[in-house]
Amino acid sequence: MEKAKKRIGILTSGGDAPGMNAAVRAVVRSALYHGMEVYGIRDGFVGLKSDDVSPLDAGSVGDIIHRGGTILGTARLPEFATDENVRQECYATLKKHRIDGLVVCGGDGSFRGANVLQHESGVNAIGLPGTIDNDLAYTDYTIGFDTAINTCMENINKLRDTMASHGRVSVVEVMGRDCGDLAVYAGIAAGSDAILLPEMRWNDQKWLRYIVTKLSQSFGRGKKYGIIVMAEGIHMQPGMGHFTVDYIASWLNHNQGSVGHKVDARGSVIGHVQRGGSPSSADRILAARMGECAVDALREGKSNLCVGIRNNKIITVDITKAVSMKKKVSKHLISLADILSH
Ligand code: F6P
Repeated sequence: MEKAKKRIGILTSGGDAPGMNAAVRAVVRSALYHGMEVYGIRDGFVGLKSDDVSPLDAGSVGDIIHRGGTILGTARLPEFATDENVRQECYATLKKHRIDGLVVCGGDGSFRGANVLQHESGVNAIGLPGTIDNDLAYTDYTIGFDTAINTCMENINKLRDTMASHGRVSVVEVMGRDCGDLAVYAGIAAGSDAILLPEMRWNDQKWLRYIVTKLSQSFGRGKKYGIIVMAEGIHMQPGMGHFTVDYIASWLNHNQGSVGHKVDARGSVIGHVQRGGSPSSADRILAARMGECAVDALREGKSNLCVGIRNNKIITVDITKAVSMKKKVSKHLISLADILSH
């Protein structure tokens, strides 16, 4: 009797990220190449719960490599962590479709879900890091981060045009949740005067003094406008809810004397455009390399691993270990940003 083909599932979960489609394509095409069957699960763990599952062939992932978002859809299902019945419904779907391996593309919440799933259901699970936040400590880069940096940079370039024309100061917020990577990379790429990172854990007064110092330096060397990049994680911190880009801009406008120069500041939030757009070549290639690695791991019967990249080498790390690692923003990049904006 012919042996049943190995059958794997793939889902995308959490906030979408450019390059998720390239990752889905890489997983599907690599798996099919190696004689496996692949099922796509819609809307992350929500589709597992509701049995929204269908087979994917090579053609079904054609014409998606350049598209932002995720063709599979995505969602957050917090009940997966808290409700045993919800999890059992998800496992029943995997069993019904005879799925014995699962690729989960998402952030740390999705990885925690994959971890529990493989322990309780016995289905091998492999995580692919898909998030613009770059907040997973075990990997140098996540899929979507490079594109999001470029989106921030392009938006800040545009702000720079109008700030320079009017001699204004732009205080601009970027995403990243409690991780400052997007802010520091985008801030350096956009040549900002100051970058505000949640990892510093400063209070509002300290941040205002820092902004004043940096703007005074820039105006002092003849610059006529300013760009301040703030990570959203700062105003997500306890007691810092008021410290928004509009608050900072208004404070600067009312405290011109402290900068020693006329200041006309405006606040801008780049927002969800950071999650969209055609993935950069770096994200597409990262997704291709990581997707192939996930399939190889499942072919070898491995489980509870997440795929990452360290020093340009694709690696796998135990998910339990990966989600417990604490992400740190690069001290070198922080000091470099400070030096270059001097
Ligand atoms: O995790 C990705 C991310 O875009 C964060 O940077 C941001 O804080 C969050 O998702 C926004 O989530 P939502 O799409 O639910 O508004």
